[in-house]
Amino acid sequence: MALLSSAPSPAVILLCFWAVIISPAASLTCSSQKFSGNQVYSNCLDLPSLSSYLHFSYDSANTTLSIGFVATPSKSSGWISWAINPKDTGMAGSQSLVAYKNSSTGGVQFRTYDVASYSSIVPKDLSFEVWDTSAVSRSDGSLAIFAKIKVPVNLAASGKINQVWQVGPSVGTDGTLAKHDFAAANLQAKGTLDLKSGQSTAGSGGNDKLKKKNIHGILNAVSWGILFPLGAIIARYVRTFESADPAWFYLHAFCQVSAYAIGVAGWATGLKLGSESSGITYSTHRNIGIALFVLATVQIFALFIRPKKDHKYRFYWNIYHHSFGYAILVLGIFNVFKGLDMLSPQHKWRTAYMIVIIALGGISLLLEAITWAVVLKRKSTKSTKPYDGYNNDN
Ligand SMILES: *[C@@H]1O[C@H](CO)[C@@H](O)[C@H](O)[C@H]1NC(C)=O
Ligand SMILES: *[C@@H]1O[C@H](CO)[C@@H](O)[C@H](O)[C@H]1NC(C)=O
Repeated sequence: MALLSSAPSPAVILLCFWAVIISPAASLTCSSQKFSGNQVYSNCLDLPSLSSYLHFSYDSANTTLSIGFVATPSKSSGWISWAINPKDTGMAGSQSLVAYKNSSTGGVQFRTYDVASYSSIVPKDLSFEVWDTSAVSRSDGSLAIFAKIKVPVNLAASGKINQVWQVGPSVGTDGTLAKHDFAAANLQAKGTLDLKSGQSTAGSGGNDKLKKKNIHGILNAVSWGILFPLGAIIARYVRTFESADPAWFYLHAFCQVSAYAIGVAGWATGLKLGSESSGITYSTHRNIGIALFVLATVQIFALFIRPKKDHKYRFYWNIYHHSFGYAILVLGIFNVFKGLDMLSPQHKWRTAYMIVIIALGGISLLLEAITWAVVLKRKSTKSTKPYDGYNNDN
């Protein structure tokens, strides 16, 4: 029991984490962006990469799409681009709206580019009508593109269009765009834009959505990202101490069952968010989430079919229980980071979670050392059988 009472650190860490999460965070998201002109859009999306934002309104009666796209060029003399690709999902074939600072006039230049192939990117009219175009620079160094687009009727029919966005470092005097980077964020800068669901969520503000995302993030970070690892640490290390038996078991079960309850709530909010998402599907995050839910559900039910300690199948049950446990641990933490990337909240959230994980890792390492010390001491003084970690489960 000594270890239990002398280990306030996880609780302290949790408190710190909550303090950081609950503190008012004015995250940079599209819902907080205002335009100096009179552009008003009914929807906005925080695009999943390159810190880019799309504001849009869509009128299905005449297939007119109004957009306001905000992004920051990779260098101050660089360019930003938002495009519809009528034929494919990537860059080749995309009909692009581009903005950059004109080095001779100092103003922000708007131009359209028909990216027929990767090798030929020159200013050109698009395959559909574009009007009311403009581009401005913003006080934070970003650029914004405004335009109205007549979405071709065949594309509008499905209600979904392929969008591609990008930022690059410089522009030639003749308007040729210098190559963008090929980092993961650049390569992921594409997705489908759901014109209809975008339209149907027009009533609910971006703030409402953001609040839901934050709740989803907090529930899941606490359950999959903190409580589950904490429960695993308890199971692995606290039980080394004979006096902590069977307290460690109840503590472990309590931790994991509450983590599961919170996790299922978080999971449900995730499913809801996914179904409401205006056209962007985060398939990896969603699939890992589903896998986590399945693994954890099996773990909870396995608690009830646990063979007795000395039963011959107990060995196999232990192998199963530990491997599922470690899989949940790894996937859970991975998915929290994945979610943080998607939500791109203020940096301190990510940092806070990183600190929690590092602290839990440090505590584990320390306990690992203590465990071995205890086991070796026990071995030398009592010369009983050695530490049989995997077999002395409750
Ligand atoms: C489409 O409809 C909207 C709303 O009725 C109108 O403001 C807009 O000018 C129309 N656009 C075109 C291209 O007709
Ligand atoms: C910059 O602006 C001038 C004057 O409008 C124009 O002739 C020139 O093509 C522009 N340069 C680029 C790179 O767009």
